[in-house]
Amino acid sequence: MAALLLGLWAAPPVFAQSSTRSAAELMDAVMWNREPIGGPFRLQDQTGKTRTDADFHGQLMLVYFGFTYCPDICPTDLQAIGLAMDQLGNDAAKVQPLFVTLDPERDTVEHLAQYVPLFHPRLIGLTGNIKDVSQAADAYRVYYKRVATGDKPNDYTVDHSAFIYLVDRDGKYLGFFPPGTDAPRLVEMIRPHLIGKAEH
Ligand code: NI
Repeated sequence: MAALLLGLWAAPPVFAQSSTRSAAELMDAVMWNREPIGGPFRLQDQTGKTRTDADFHGQLMLVYFGFTYCPDICPTDLQAIGLAMDQLGNDAAKVQPLFVTLDPERDTVEHLAQYVPLFHPRLIGLTGNIKDVSQAADAYRVYYKRVATGDKPNDYTVDHSAFIYLVDRDGKYLGFFPPGTDAPRLVEMIRPHLIGKAEH
């Protein structure tokens, strides 16, 4: 029995280009706060530097998962995040926005380096191998699924949930903003978390 279990545990996990759980299940976990959200990650930023969640402790994190070829939702939300950073003024220094790709094969370090500055100079893009990206996405209960749009290998899009997660200075999950939240609302919701707590 023990040998059998060990055998199962030793089996290499399959990291498909999609979340292992259904959209409804993951949506439910986030919407009703049924499961812990967030946690450790280890990825590369748009300069190729390895970044972990611990690098951002002491700042609030705005964490967003998407992909650069996203035609609509991602750019809109990233634009709102960029505008919110501008509207936060000096307080923006206490907030770190992160864009984690769900399409690491196309969203290389070099590609992210061209993409993230379009939205804000402080936006950090994160990519990595499929395993590390899957782990980060799973930790944030992100739904994503690669969907073919043609016959060529690169003809695909990625369906994905698009919450903006807010994480506190200690790395503790605070809550999420729904897709389409505009910049003034982001700022209004972020501000209370910038005060009333001892600085690290
Ligand atoms: Ni998107």
